[in-house]
Amino acid sequence: MSETSKVVLVTGATGGIGSAVCLRLANSGYSLILAARDISKLQAACAALDRPGLPSHRWISVDMSSDASIASFSHELATDGTVLDGVVLMPPQMRPTGDCQPPADMWRQLFQSNFIGPLELLKSAISTMRPDPSQGRGAKIVIISAITSVQALGNYATSNVLRCAWLAQAKTLAFAMGERGIHVNTLSLGGTLTPDYVASIDLRATKAGVTFSERLAEETLNIPLRKYGRPEEVALAVEVLLSPFSDHMTGVNLLHDGGFTRAY
Ligand SMILES: NC(=O)c1ccc[n+]([C@@H]2O[C@H](COP(=O)([O-])OP(=O)(O)OC[C@H]3O[C@@H](n4cnc5c(N)ncnc54)[C@H](OP(=O)(O)O)[C@@H]3O)[C@@H](O)[C@H]2O)c1
Repeated sequence: MSETSKVVLVTGATGGIGSAVCLRLANSGYSLILAARDISKLQAACAALDRPGLPSHRWISVDMSSDASIASFSHELATDGTVLDGVVLMPPQMRPTGDCQPPADMWRQLFQSNFIGPLELLKSAISTMRPDPSQGRGAKIVIISAITSVQALGNYATSNVLRCAWLAQAKTLAFAMGERGIHVNTLSLGGTLTPDYVASIDLRATKAGVTFSERLAEETLNIPLRKYGRPEEVALAVEVLLSPFSDHMTGVNLLHDGGFTRAY
């Protein structure tokens, strides 16, 4: 690993968006720590990122729905002397639901896996950061969110609530940690063409008896740029937020939605 390479933790690293983020950051010379649950996927993802002459990468398995798993993750991070320069935090993907009054057990489980768990993990990651604003050295946190952070959407009842909670948490951390040189920004995504999302469009096309292209065109009619995002576009936005571009930005919620959100 190069002496100067920056170390970034990416959670959800083996998913549709995480894979694209890891590929982009690895190719740009970051040294990555990949986190997700499935060890075989993590091993394969790490191996696929290795390039001669570029920094090496490693992985730590973690289940954000389990306190014990997060404690073990935090222990591993703390004991090997890792100093993180950045974190790309991706809470697990939430399934759409039209039920605006989900049962208490569902809320408990969702808050654990999508808020409390990722937040505990983030706390342990922050404790390894050593920014030094007097030397112009910041640490950058990018929290992947969704456009439900700024508007309520039908069929996304739980996402509407949890994304707002993250927005408030990101602002709170940004206020508290700015002085230490820790930047906290969120990137709120609209529909993004991961393999899973493509499969869901395909399913809707089949149900509606139309082609994939016809369905895609119909679904994106209300998006000014007339398209969903691509994981590679998200990866570029994440890299930019980790870069000096955000040296005077914190507590910002950037929308990555093709212009879908109408509010100012
Ligand atoms: N795709 C979209 O259109 C879209 C739109 C708006 C926002 N987002 C947000 O973007 C982020 C990534 O989405 P994606 O589409 O790339 O999701 P994805 O393909 O389903 O990937 C999810 C990732 O999270 C890991 N994961 C799942 N449950 C976990 C848990 N309990 N603990 C730890 N890791 C877990 C998965 O690996 P393991 O299963 O091995 O753990 C995988 O690496 C999510 O926060 C999602 O809400 C996506």
